[in-house]
Amino acid sequence: MNRDIERVLLSEQEIAEKVKALGAQISKDYADKTPIIVCVLKGSFIFMADLVRAIDVPCTVDFMSVSSYGAGTTSSGEVKIVKDFDQSVEGRHLIIVEDILDSGRTLSYLMKTLKARGAASIALCTFLDKPERRVVPVEVTYSGFTVPDAFIVGYGLDYDQKYRNLPYVGVLKPSVYEK
Ligand code: IMP
Ligand code: MG
Repeated sequence: MNRDIERVLLSEQEIAEKVKALGAQISKDYADKTPIIVCVLKGSFIFMADLVRAIDVPCTVDFMSVSSYGAGTTSSGEVKIVKDFDQSVEGRHLIIVEDILDSGRTLSYLMKTLKARGAASIALCTFLDKPERRVVPVEVTYSGFTVPDAFIVGYGLDYDQKYRNLPYVGVLKPSVYEK
């Protein structure tokens, strides 16, 4: 796998420090609440697992899986909820955990849907942000790192479902997807 990586963007060490800091900030902000930490599958599963262990206030976790309607990158912005919550979100404080914020289409739709279900508050915690690519504005509460507009893999992020298990974040060699 390592041979397919053009350059390392974020080392394991840098990631661990950032996740600790995000967890500490969330613990402070939610000191008197019991938020639901929502993992948007699959990309954020590793970030989620590390983040919840850096949070030291009571919380519950849940998992959602969404898929875009339409093909590839030019979807309408409509997302289909493939796997939904196991618990009611009414009156609860939600923290949505995402791997990477790109066009913003998925998150914008998801946040609208969850607001309509009566969540008390919704915050977004994204591991990575590619602001250059934003099409739909999204309000980000917690953000790990800003990354350039390149194809990024590792620490949960995939190309063709692979590379999620790389412990660091790197830029994939274009030769891998131009084949
Ligand atoms: P969007 O913000 O709705 O455009 O979609 C964001 C989703 O696109 C993320 O959750 C990822 O699954 C995927 N994505 C965007 N950029 C990358 C990347 O560089 N590497 C891997 N997945 C990406
Ligand atoms: Mg994703």
